[in-house]
Amino acid sequence: MPTPRHPDAPPTALDPADPAFARDPYPYYARLREQGPAARVPLANGTHAWFVTGYEQTRAVLADPRFSNVPPRGAGRPKSDSPAQRARACLARHMLNTDAPDHTRLRRLTTAAFAPRRVDTLRARIEELTDGLLRDVAERLAREGSADLVDAFAFPLPVLVIGEVLGVPEADRAALRDWTYRVGSPADALRPGAVDEAWTSLYAYFGELIAHKRRAPGPDLFSALTHDATEGGLDDGELLAMAFLLLFAGYETTMNLLASASLLLLTHPAELAAARRDPGRWPAVVEETLRHASPLEGTTWRHATQDVDLGDGTRIPAGSSVLAVLAAANRDPRHFPEPDAFRPGRYAHDATGRGPRAAPHVAFGHGPHFCVGSRLARLEAAVALPRLFAAFPGLRLTADAAELPYRPGLLVRGPRSVPVAA
Ligand code: HEM
Repeated sequence: MPTPRHPDAPPTALDPADPAFARDPYPYYARLREQGPAARVPLANGTHAWFVTGYEQTRAVLADPRFSNVPPRGAGRPKSDSPAQRARACLARHMLNTDAPDHTRLRRLTTAAFAPRRVDTLRARIEELTDGLLRDVAERLAREGSADLVDAFAFPLPVLVIGEVLGVPEADRAALRDWTYRVGSPADALRPGAVDEAWTSLYAYFGELIAHKRRAPGPDLFSALTHDATEGGLDDGELLAMAFLLLFAGYETTMNLLASASLLLLTHPAELAAARRDPGRWPAVVEETLRHASPLEGTTWRHATQDVDLGDGTRIPAGSSVLAVLAAANRDPRHFPEPDAFRPGRYAHDATGRGPRAAPHVAFGHGPHFCVGSRLARLEAAVALPRLFAAFPGLRLTADAAELPYRPGLLVRGPRSVPVAA
């Protein structure tokens, strides 16, 4: 029997829905890391999982084929006996839930559709979409005296951009935004049935969209994916799962990046002033936000297909559920001095043009499942943030930053609202 290094740690079960943990999970992860780079954690639902909090070990786990992305049979897979559940089951077929060789084929096709030159052509549209939203924010501020940056800016922008990626016609964007909002909301926050209706609508809509792209491809990235016949191309089921994956992988993460960056800049006026003085600093602001406020707190679950020795006497037994906690790895003090400080300077070029001194963060993951949309996410943030702060020179937070509610759970992390006045 392999011996876990710290079998008793930590003593209390972790409840990811606890609002205090959601707001600031970092002290918990720091304590966990002190026990070793990976620790077995009891969860409030009665199960256990291995949390990997060390930077090097996170990278090692994410690159190691002994950790599988395929969910164990039956685990978390909804039964497909209603249209809404069928839609969710379809999402479960996406490539983040696959290993090589299936993953390799899906990945190759996606990477080709997301080639840098294709992504870069979206810049002008992202600028237009940002400016349109900022006009709405200005109207709201004039009318109501305050606005929520999550509602009016950080949520709609990534959804509109995914609309571009998927080639959703302009007239359908409002519906896409509404369905996305509903499926991303906690079930008890909306009227009964609203979330299921949204799943069903998205499923039907994506089905029609794919049929349309097959008949009449457009210049969008999704059309490229629909028509790439390499290795037999993607079948309709795979395309449907891909449409869902692009939507969900792309919107909530980027929303959290925009919301967290806005909040960090509003609470670090010297850093905001530095970026306003020197526009070349914005990419460093984006990188440091990704490190400091990792929008994906943990990766998707892996499970160990055999016993794995992570070094330092830490052995993860076969069959264990494993979570690579990106948020914790990005604050590993052995790689990031003063990890809890927000310091874009660590990712800036110095006066002599020398590159960043900090280690690369793992906010976009590592290894074969490294984020396909990283270039797009960086582009969105680098376009949208300077425009936001240029449009509203007197923007200020109207709530106590330490009191803002955060999204619960171990997967995504970001403030639920960032209330501002100008
Ligand atoms: C700040 C924004 C984003 C962050 C922090 C982020 C982060 C990540 C991470 C950590 C993974 C790996 C997950 C794992 O290994 O379990 C991932 C995978 C993925 N991301 Fe992103 N992502 C972002 C934006 C986007 C966007 C805009 C898109 C596309 C429109 C996208 C598409 C994907 C896809 C398709 C995968 C699966 C890749 C695979 O399985 O090979 N992401 N992302």
